[in-house]
Amino acid sequence: MADEPLVLGIETSCDETGVGIVRGTTLLADAIASSVDTHARFGGVVPEFASRAHLEAMVPTIERALKTAGISAKDLDGIAVTAGPGLAGALLVGVSAAKAYAYALNKPLYGVNHLASHICVDQLEHGPLPEPTMALLVSGGHSSLLLAPDITSDVRPMGATIDDAAGEAFDKIARVLDLGFPGGPVIDRLAKEGDPKAIAFPRGLTGSRDPAYDFSFSGLKTAVARWIEAKRNAGEEVPVRDVAASFQEAVVDVLTRKAVRACKDEGVDHLMIGGGVAANSRLRALAQERCERAGIRLRVPRPGLCTDNGAMVAALGAEMVARNRPASDLELSADSSLPVTEPHVPGEAHAHSHDHDHVHEVSKKNLYS
Ligand code: KG4
Ligand code: ZN
Repeated sequence: MADEPLVLGIETSCDETGVGIVRGTTLLADAIASSVDTHARFGGVVPEFASRAHLEAMVPTIERALKTAGISAKDLDGIAVTAGPGLAGALLVGVSAAKAYAYALNKPLYGVNHLASHICVDQLEHGPLPEPTMALLVSGGHSSLLLAPDITSDVRPMGATIDDAAGEAFDKIARVLDLGFPGGPVIDRLAKEGDPKAIAFPRGLTGSRDPAYDFSFSGLKTAVARWIEAKRNAGEEVPVRDVAASFQEAVVDVLTRKAVRACKDEGVDHLMIGGGVAANSRLRALAQERCERAGIRLRVPRPGLCTDNGAMVAALGAEMVARNRPASDLELSADSSLPVTEPHVPGEAHAHSHDHDHVHEVSKKNLYS
């Protein structure tokens, strides 16, 4: 509808320069430029290279998005940008660009949280999010179960990983198997030809006394690495497809089990899964199976909207405009460890100190490990 907010969103928290344009919950453009090939030979994202690539890609990607959407920048109702969490230098490029456009065009600026954006993006695919929303957020730097009564202002952590993020585990196992970076997509592909029951890898934090909604993937990672090493030491061939399938099964088994349990415990009748790992085909299938059995409706965006993109930032920005949230001031700064509990960053003038809580510390560790 023409009266819904028209918002451009900029995402530069990691290695993807994403620019999306939405009108309300309708996606008009999703332009992306990735520097992943530059990082692949280093086995991980090199922050300095990512920042430089964002700088080069920024203006052309914005122009491409405007052209695809068929709109003029002066028609926009707001400019949204990922203010954190993410790589500090990379975030800074997006925040600076958003400020420059907002200032030059005299449009309101909205600094938003990358993690809340991963959840809000589903509005572009499945319509307005129910309130509260139960979300399983699984990416390269984060793995959390979140209960969000309002995605623009109230996001509550139910649990989080106490060590590695799910995506990080995929990336590390892919490295051990010499499969390149990022690891998720290639493990997903190889696992399709492997036996998920071939090797019984451990399921972290699933004992009866363990925290119900927290995750741990570091023990699994070590177990898989040791198993591979033992095979290699014995001079035996490593059954890569079976290892990939069995490892992947261990991750998605725990994720889906805990997410469904959280929905049941909280009486929430739907589950949203977001973040790069939500692109995983086995996670999607098992979640579907278990949600159906529990009478829970599953919402997962298409894979292209699960991995980092600009549309998700625009989606959350549009929701901020629709709900009359205050715009950020032009002193807005990037916060590499912005906690998941702050979906919206009003800017320096409104700034309040946030607690360095559990989830916050975990996210920080994962981003720099
Ligand atoms: O959300 P995202 O694009 O960036 C961050 O915010 O971290 O997530 C990236 C992570 C990487 O660890 C990548 O290996 C993982 O998502 N990933 C996948 C798949 N596609 C991407 N993991 C499992 N299966 C996939 N198909
Ligand atoms: Zn992400």
